[in-house]
Amino acid sequence: MSIEYKFPEGFWWGSAVSATQIEGAAAEGGKGLNIWDYWYAIEPNRFFEGVGPETTSDFYHSYQDDIKRMKDIGHNSFRLSISWSRLLPGGRGEINQEAVKFYNDVINELIAHDIEPFVNLFHFDMPLEMQEIGGWENRQVVDLFVDYANVCFDLFGDRVHKWFTFNEPIVPVEGGYLYDFHYPNVVDAKRAIQVGYNTMIASAKAIEKFRSHHFGESQIGIILNLTPSYPRSQNPADLKASEIADLFFNRSFLDPSVLGSYPHKLIQLLEEHGQLPETEEGDTELMAANTVDLLGVNYYQPRRVKAKDHLPNPYSPFMPDWFFDNYEMPGRKMNKYRGWEIYEKGIYDIMINLKENYGNIGSFISENGMGVQDEERFMKEGRIEDDYRINFITGHLKWLHQAIEEGCNAKGYHLWSFMDNWSWMNAYKNRYGFFSVDLETKERKPKKSAYFMKNVAEQNGF
Ligand code: BG6
Repeated sequence: MSIEYKFPEGFWWGSAVSATQIEGAAAEGGKGLNIWDYWYAIEPNRFFEGVGPETTSDFYHSYQDDIKRMKDIGHNSFRLSISWSRLLPGGRGEINQEAVKFYNDVINELIAHDIEPFVNLFHFDMPLEMQEIGGWENRQVVDLFVDYANVCFDLFGDRVHKWFTFNEPIVPVEGGYLYDFHYPNVVDAKRAIQVGYNTMIASAKAIEKFRSHHFGESQIGIILNLTPSYPRSQNPADLKASEIADLFFNRSFLDPSVLGSYPHKLIQLLEEHGQLPETEEGDTELMAANTVDLLGVNYYQPRRVKAKDHLPNPYSPFMPDWFFDNYEMPGRKMNKYRGWEIYEKGIYDIMINLKENYGNIGSFISENGMGVQDEERFMKEGRIEDDYRINFITGHLKWLHQAIEEGCNAKGYHLWSFMDNWSWMNAYKNRYGFFSVDLETKERKPKKSAYFMKNVAEQNGF
């Protein structure tokens, strides 16, 4: 079979997961509570079909077989996250030796299978005790996060050579402090902005700490969900709306992470509305000196915007949405289960933007994927025929390939996700995996896309 789309040698093929979404064993192995355990205990009704985080996909017990499965489908790299509340129950203090053993075993098993572990430190899972003292609003939590990061570097830094401080740090800001889809369910832009700012300080401090170890070739980065903003039209009002959406949802984390400072226009806008966060002396220098080596890009959907149809209610809480409306472009292609538009070219636009405006920083697609409901409908002779997912992946890979041809510095592609997993409030509604997971028995079965991926990885293209 001829290969039309060949990727650069050593391209990273794999998938990504997060601790809370796959490990299960939420009350086992000495793990402390995190905000998901707590929120589910007090409001189980907010989770799809009342399914909580206690067992999820049970990776804690089946990681050995799962890693074999990864090998079977050609993974050469795999991103996991460490659960802060498993390693340091309560977020600080004594190290939980059962957790050390678990993460050591997982890392060693991956390496034994020639799969490079990419390790992320924070994926939406604040230890409950840390939330109780203010979470990211409290600078003390920032320092405790750096202590936790340092424990991870000490324990696993000899074998892990790709680290990430955060996955999608904007999501806890949006979910927890603006739009009510994460605990602590606050709606307050000022607090949201403080949380976002302190998260960036935490990332810079963790990077500084990492570099003090002198790990040689090892790299540290961050994973951002970049949602390119497309204006409805070239009308100046639409263009302005799109520029502001981009400032809030992309550049708020991309600029400080990669360039070491916030966009001037964002600072100006927040200042005009009395929304600037509290800062400390030395913050500017800290951020400037500790930018990332590597950028993970999570891409699922574009953001289409237009100028507002109506002035915002002056008595409503201040929101980014005061400056733009979402635009439902007629004829857009939708993943109707997740309610997200599918726009493959977005991946190319992101990469070109990184090349032109962010020094062509080394990057990779750290998540891309398609969550689909009731996938058993597509079962034929015991296998889920997920051709829609294969089309989704190839559509995005073609544009990624084009970006690389044009000189973009993209080094890999990880699907979300390896196997079906627990999607926060959506629990197991939409399934994302190369492998299906039976929620009763925890049995895994490869979908058609798993075989497709194996071929792509083996041929380094398709
Ligand atoms: C990303 C996250 O936002 O998208 C994952 O890093 C998440 O944690 C994934 O699961 C898919 O989104 P969702 O909301 O359908 O689970």
